[in-house]
Amino acid sequence: MNSGRDRIIAGEFKEEDLENEITLRPKWMGEYIGQDKVKNKLDIFIEAAKLREEPLDHALLYGPPGLGKTTLANIIANEMGVNIRVTSGPAIERPGDLASILTNLGDDDVLFIDEIHTLNRTVEEILYPAMEDFALDLIIGKGPSARSVRLDLSRFTLIGATTRAGLLTSPLRDRFGVMLNLELYDVESLTKIVKRSANILNIEIDNEGAIEIAKRSRGTPRIANRILKRVRDYSQVRENGTITYEIAKKGLKILEIDSLGLDNTDKKLIMTIIENFDGGPAGVETIAAATGEERNTIEDVYEPYLLQIGFLNRTPRGRVISKRAYEHFNIPFEED
Ligand code: ADE
Repeated sequence: MNSGRDRIIAGEFKEEDLENEITLRPKWMGEYIGQDKVKNKLDIFIEAAKLREEPLDHALLYGPPGLGKTTLANIIANEMGVNIRVTSGPAIERPGDLASILTNLGDDDVLFIDEIHTLNRTVEEILYPAMEDFALDLIIGKGPSARSVRLDLSRFTLIGATTRAGLLTSPLRDRFGVMLNLELYDVESLTKIVKRSANILNIEIDNEGAIEIAKRSRGTPRIANRILKRVRDYSQVRENGTITYEIAKKGLKILEIDSLGLDNTDKKLIMTIIENFDGGPAGVETIAAATGEERNTIEDVYEPYLLQIGFLNRTPRGRVISKRAYEHFNIPFEED
């Protein structure tokens, strides 16, 4: 089974998304579609921080890949009228890397750390005094004569992003004043996003065409934008360049994305649990071993959507495939 990275319906960031995300990414809260609960909270926190002329409290954004965590961090910086420095957990290898980023921040700036759960212990420890006291504790010298010197930093806002809040250590999690959970988008919001993107990209699409793409995008704008471009390719080569319901349907068939947005990899995952474990319960480690997928990929990329559409249930004894999934794949379901 492939690792998920070359799947059109994987939420993870791919190189080809870069251009998409720069041209299509909303820059202001008013343009950002969906995630109303998150937006309502942020509107209040941003306005309050501006009134008090303080930086926004440190915020943690968590949720499956492709839902717009980086986009939101950029919007927050724009709305606060400050600069943003973007980095990621894997890019910060040593404490010195983080120290140099922190000392270069200006007053009230936003520091965005994507995949913040991957920071190593020694780097993470630099963050604690930085977040709490806007200070950097440097150790000078070695052995018994070593001493600690405290350097003041500018006041800043740390925005961390992660696929699951549970992956963070508790000392780090406790230092965020604001926790925001991004959820998979509903079809209505995704339809609006598809229409907005089509408009920016000069793609002619009708309402039914947009709905069909939205329905098959697994609640994820990044996937919706990717499918939109691939269906446009199909239409330009085989049809008239526009996207209608019929054209979207034909394009998606060639892309091997089914009526619910599932591809062959999802089908294989579900069939493995059905065939090898009688539909479950099966532990996630066992499923990972049987499919050759990483446990994290299963939990972050496949499961959120399969849970949302009710194809998979999490029970204390493991994952169970639902009757609805059997029916979708036309497999006889035997009640216990
Ligand atoms: N493009 C990607 N995500 C978006 C969102 N939430 N709102 C508007 N456009 C988007």
